[in-house]
Amino acid sequence: MDERILSPNEKTYEEDLQQTLRPRVFDEYIGQNKLKEKLKIFIEAAKLREEPIDHLLLYGPPGLGKTTLASVLANEMGVNLKITSGPVLEKAGDLAAILTSLDENDILFIDEIHRLSSNVEEILYPAMEDSELDIIIGKGPGARSIRIALPKFTLVGATTRAGLLTSPLRDRFGITHRMDYYEEEDLTKIIVRGAKILNIGIEKKGAAEIAIRSRGTPRIANRFLKRVRDYALIRGDGIITSKITKDALELLEVDEIGLDQLDREILTGIIMNYNGGPVGIETLSLLLGEDKRTIEEVYEPYLVKIGFIKRTSRGRVVTSHAYKHVGIKEDENNNIKIF
Ligand code: ADE
Repeated sequence: MDERILSPNEKTYEEDLQQTLRPRVFDEYIGQNKLKEKLKIFIEAAKLREEPIDHLLLYGPPGLGKTTLASVLANEMGVNLKITSGPVLEKAGDLAAILTSLDENDILFIDEIHRLSSNVEEILYPAMEDSELDIIIGKGPGARSIRIALPKFTLVGATTRAGLLTSPLRDRFGITHRMDYYEEEDLTKIIVRGAKILNIGIEKKGAAEIAIRSRGTPRIANRFLKRVRDYALIRGDGIITSKITKDALELLEVDEIGLDQLDREILTGIIMNYNGGPVGIETLSLLLGEDKRTIEEVYEPYLVKIGFIKRTSRGRVVTSHAYKHVGIKEDENNNIKIF
């Protein structure tokens, strides 16, 4: 994935900024109120029973705070958090090493859990269900299976693609929750909070303008906050106003509703080459020279959410809202006019 400014998947990029801004407890965590309410109850009950909370599966678009939530959960439970991800766990032994290092009631967070290989996933089943580790040692006729008791722990799995999870894995989560894009009001609060922590001068209207362009995603909002701060320092008096935000994000080719160049290329690509669709993801990926997964997991969900793209059984179709937004009009003979 390239370092496009909007790409919320880019985790190493500005990670320390994320780290400082990350809320530590529920009281600091803005939005996702339903989920917070449910989790607070589960936490209290688990504490009363002196047990870990049930395994939790979080799914939804990237950048909405799944890792953050796992760390809030660990803080609220007073336990350790270990973080790993599906693609990193290549061998069964990689997961076994992590599982055997856990303390009682700890939280293990596995990001991109839909990308676990099947041999690693099989280790997870008895671990989740019976707190047991079944491993095979040796090879060939001398191979034997040994069973090790593990501490009770909570697995928090995160995925952008719940549909790709195998059903045995999905069935082992006691709690499943779909994380949704944030409302502009909550994003504004997140931006104001971030500005306070980073000691940035910001007007409420400036924060609201950043929120409008952040595609419902806190990770994008915090990233924009830093970009706009730089712009304000050089082109303004250091204070983030509505005008400074508009100018800064225009320079970054982010439009007034937060779409970037690739978003617009996806829409115009489908319109100009496929008459608005339907078009398959493979074709689109080839046309734009962009990674299929980036289009599917990062870009498309938001374009679907704002009603610019519809997914049909025959492929992606661009809607009339999208035509209007990119300034392309079709006449009665299906001829395209750009204005
Ligand atoms: N930073 C990123 N996500 C946040 C959230 N949900 N609440 C507060 N700060 C955040």
